[in-house]
This record gives sequence, C-alpha cells and structure tokens, in this order.
Amino acid sequence: MSQNYSPGLEGVTAGISAVSEVDAERNALCYRGLDIHDLVEHCTFDETAFLLLHGRLPSPGEYGDFLQRIAGQRNPPPEVWEVFARMPASTHPMDALRTAVSLLGTFDQSGSSPQALLAQAERLYAQVPSLVVNGYRILQGQPIVEPDTQLTHSSLFFQLLRNARPAPHEEKALRTTQILYAEHGFNASTFAARVTVSTLSDLYSGVVSALGTLKGPLHGGANEAAIAMLLEIGSADNAVPWLEKALAEKRKIMGFGHREYKQGDERARIAKKSALEIAQRNGFEKWSEIAEKVETEMWKRKGLYPNLDFPVALLYYALDIPIPLYTPIFVMSRITGWCAHIIEQLGSNRLIRPQCQYNGPRNVSFVPMEERKAPHAE
Ligand code: ACO
Repeated sequence: MSQNYSPGLEGVTAGISAVSEVDAERNALCYRGLDIHDLVEHCTFDETAFLLLHGRLPSPGEYGDFLQRIAGQRNPPPEVWEVFARMPASTHPMDALRTAVSLLGTFDQSGSSPQALLAQAERLYAQVPSLVVNGYRILQGQPIVEPDTQLTHSSLFFQLLRNARPAPHEEKALRTTQILYAEHGFNASTFAARVTVSTLSDLYSGVVSALGTLKGPLHGGANEAAIAMLLEIGSADNAVPWLEKALAEKRKIMGFGHREYKQGDERARIAKKSALEIAQRNGFEKWSEIAEKVETEMWKRKGLYPNLDFPVALLYYALDIPIPLYTPIFVMSRITGWCAHIIEQLGSNRLIRPQCQYNGPRNVSFVPMEERKAPHAE
C-alpha cells in the first residue's frame, strides 16, 4: 500500500485557499479572516455573501450597489419553470435544483473571464431563493410567487414560501444558520466543485457537482435525516432506548460527528441557541427535549458532539419550514462559498488528479467469448 494513502483523504492537505480558515483545535471558523461570531452578530447574509465573493466586507456604497445588482436579477429565465413543471411531483427539491442550475448554464454564454465568473456567481446567488422555493411550489402544484426585490436574502425565502414577510425573529434565526452554513474550507461539496473546474470546466458545472455532493446524508442531507430521526424517536422517553438500539445496529446518528471537529462544532453551539429560542417561542419544547436527550446520550456513549445540521434541523422544524427544503436552504447559504472557491481554483489552476492503489486481480488469462461462462452458470 502506498505510504501516501489516506482513506477518504483524511488529514490530507489538498490545496491552498484564502476563502475560509477552519481551526479545529480552537473550534474557530473565519471567513476571509472574519470570525463567524462577529458575522452572526453584526452582518446580514448579503454582506457575508459579498465578503466571500469579493474578499472583504462592502463599504456602504458597495453594499447598496450589490443589493441593487442582486434585486435586478431575482427572476430566473421562465423556461426553468417549464422544466420544473415536467418533473415528477415526487422529485426531491435537491434533484430539481441540480437540474435547474444545469439548465441555467445553457442560458449563459458569458465565458470564464474573472469578471464573467463574478457576474455568474452573483446571478446564481440572486436566483437561488426563487429556484428553491418557487421550484418546490411548482412540484407541489402551487403557483409561483413574485420575489419582493426589497427584501434581504433571508427574508425573501419566507416571502416566497408564505407569500408574506417574516417576523424579525424568524429572519434573524434563518440568517444565523445561513451565515453558519456559508463556507467551510475543503468540505466534500466544495472539493467536488474545485475538482470539476480544475479541468477548466465552467462555473455552472462546478456548482452542479457541488449540488450532487451536498445532497448525501453524510454531508448536507444530514439536516433532513436528523429531523427524520427526531420524528422517529417521537418522545423524550423513547430517546435513550431508541439510541441504544440504533447504536447496537451500528446506525449512523445523523447530525453527529465531524471529520474536522473532534471537540465539538462551534457553529452547532451558536445555532443551538437560536433553535432553543425558536422552539420555546413556537411551542416546540417537546422536540428540543428529545434533541437534548439524544445529545447528552451521544456524548456519554460515543463521545460525539452534534454538528451544525443537528440544531438546524430542530430550528427549521420549529420555524415550520417544509422538511424537503432544509438541504436546499444549505444550498442558498453555501452558493457564494462554492463560487468563491471555483473562482479561486480557476485563478491559479492545477488539475486535481490524485492516484489510487490498485487492489484487483493480476495476470488474468484471456478467454474467448464463446468459451466464457457466467458465474454460477453450472
Ligand atoms: N453516529 C454513530 N457513530 C459515529 C458517527 C455518528 N454520527 N460519527 C462517527 N461515528 C463513529 C464511527 O462509526 C467511528 O466509530 P468506530 O471507530 O467505532 O468505527 C468513529 O465514530 C469515527 O468516525 P468516522 O466515520 O471515522 O469519522 P469521519 O470523520 O470519517 O466521519 C462524518 C465524519 C461522516 C460526518 C460522520 O461523523 C457521520 O457519518 N456523521 C453523520 C452524518 C452527518 O451528520 N453529516 C453532517 C456533517 S456536517 C455538515 O455537512 C455541515
């Protein structure tokens, strides 16, 4: 076996990036040098998106211009709605979204200059809330809602979903999770995007790769899997017996553990505070009680802490957001992080192409077709 081999690339440094810094030892996370605590405390999600794409926080003038550019591009081309309408009603919104982003790529012939890439990233950022929510509406047989161009990214999600503006505490709670979801180094979906564009493919292809990668329950799909688990547990009394059985069956407990953070995920601690507030305010204490029991028991039995997806699942449930939209909200939040990485990769590209260690058969004799037998054909 090669000395360089690390299953799942664990512990491997596969590139250099100035987009974010994950410091697992200190449980710290910074975007472009700014600590997530400061961003959650002081910034809108739109400011965070600008920060990731442009490398620094905007001045008031730049922020106004950015919001204006975004507001002018909220509506995707109408052909996208026709494609949503032709999908089976059972299509998961993540699959629908992946298809929609791929389609958007066909409408964009602006090329791959640095200015074009930035404009493409801003356009995707502007359109993704409508793609997520109006796409879901179409799958549900509901009419689409016109985006209110005065609203921030986080408020717009609720306006499209409910056809009404959210209460300030709802906007704040969603914004907090969006900022926490916005960027995270060489996570699987970002890495997939970078691998794709490292072949000099286009930005949309990079985002499509990222979308397909985020969907899995070991990554972004964990927030939907975590709420499914809490619903399956159903009562605080059932939490310990349920967990005991699940661990005995070697099931993965969704929303727990992390490749980087072995001493807890600071993002989860911040999101938990919001989740508990909203759960209490909206009468979802039963679910926060179950979540607390699972968290305590997971630490006792496995020494594992929740990752961001666990409190987010409780929070979105308490906000009455439809479960199939949980992972698409992750997309709405991670889109500028992905694009910042794609732009960075293309800015100083080297093809990402690792090796693998062969472990198949060797020296196999060739047998002509007429003499071959299928296994167990006797
Ligand atoms: N439930 C039960 N056991 C777990 C879990 C879990 N969620 N996570 C890790 N473990 C156990 C493993 O079984 C393993 O035990 P063993 O040594 O007895 O075999 C040990 O802890 C080490 O785990 P690894 O799988 O080696 O950890 P890795 O770094 O590869 O995995 C991962 C990280 C994939 C996130 C894992 O913890 C997991 O599957 N979690 C559940 C899915 C999840 O919540 N994903 C969201 C990630 S965060 C995000 O995308 C925002």
